[in-house]
Amino acid sequence: MRISLEEAIARLRHGDVVAIPTETVYGLAADATNDTALQKIFTTKQRPADHPLIVHIADISQVHEWVTDFPEVAVKLANAFWPGALTLVLPAKSHVSRVVRGGEPTIALRVPNHPVALRLLRLSHLSVAAPSANLFTQLSPTTAAHVEASLGESIPVLDGGPCQVGIESTIVSVTASGEWQLLRPGMISEADITQVAGKPQLTTDVADKQSAPVQTPKVPGQHALHYAPRTPLSLFKSRTELMAELDALIKAGKNCAALIIGSGEQPNCPVVQLTDQPNEVAEQLYDALHRLDALKVDRLLVELPPDTPPWVAVLDRLSRAGYQAPI
Ligand code: TXA
Ligand code: MG
Repeated sequence: MRISLEEAIARLRHGDVVAIPTETVYGLAADATNDTALQKIFTTKQRPADHPLIVHIADISQVHEWVTDFPEVAVKLANAFWPGALTLVLPAKSHVSRVVRGGEPTIALRVPNHPVALRLLRLSHLSVAAPSANLFTQLSPTTAAHVEASLGESIPVLDGGPCQVGIESTIVSVTASGEWQLLRPGMISEADITQVAGKPQLTTDVADKQSAPVQTPKVPGQHALHYAPRTPLSLFKSRTELMAELDALIKAGKNCAALIIGSGEQPNCPVVQLTDQPNEVAEQLYDALHRLDALKVDRLLVELPPDTPPWVAVLDRLSRAGYQAPI
């Protein structure tokens, strides 16, 4: 059900959930200070309660309401990348809801770079917790129609058009002492973060060697089986390998569809072809997987992009989508 900005704000103030657009993926939003509203996110998504949520704020001046420390490194990152697809995990003030933190001592914050989301945050004077607006472990939504397909037609959606970044934000944790660590790759790369932070991330190696106890950031909610279509999905390092497997599956009487990256030989089955540009592939990725999943074939065959730094985030999402549960 599509709703207006005014209605979205009214529902959020009333303690209800609303799907909202961001530049990464659509989020299922609720007032981040209202535990009853937050619980509705978990029940709507069928998400385990120990999975913390990202709080979306209107601008950097609101950070201090949530955190005990805002170290220089985090200030630099926020100034460089907000509004944008970067989430900062920082030490939480004790009053911050345990529901939104998933029981963690930290809180995840981000200023989204989407005009509709920013207008909603500014006009409502609310901060909203919002995980991706899909059922737990399913594909993330990058259009209002994807949200309705996953959560049902009755879910209220503020339609802001297709998401421009297309995959979830980069998550960086920063400790009170200013050490940082990448928790989830996104289109803002580790190299981008390192450059602005002015120092490399704290690696587990370094942590092991230090005698003083180091606070190792946890990555709750990063399941291997995540972002997955319903159709079993196989990943291939090359088009040649994909074509060989396709031949074998067709001979065995299976219906297949393929996702290919860049030009080259066309597989003999329904195909979604993406470009060879990482930003464009990220933008199109979930929509491509949603479309292929809707074909209800026996198997999806997916060609992987090269294993190089610009593709890290796309490879991360594809490897999770391709995870096959052990039988
Ligand atoms: O782009 C995005 O980040 C989207 C849009 C809607 O903003 N949101 C999103 O939320 O991807 P979600 O719930 O699907 O992913 C949130 C993840 C958690 O699964 C967890 O890995 C991490 O953020 N996270 C949140 N709070 C954390 C915390 N306190 N410590 C460590 N990780 C945290
Ligand atoms: Mg998600």
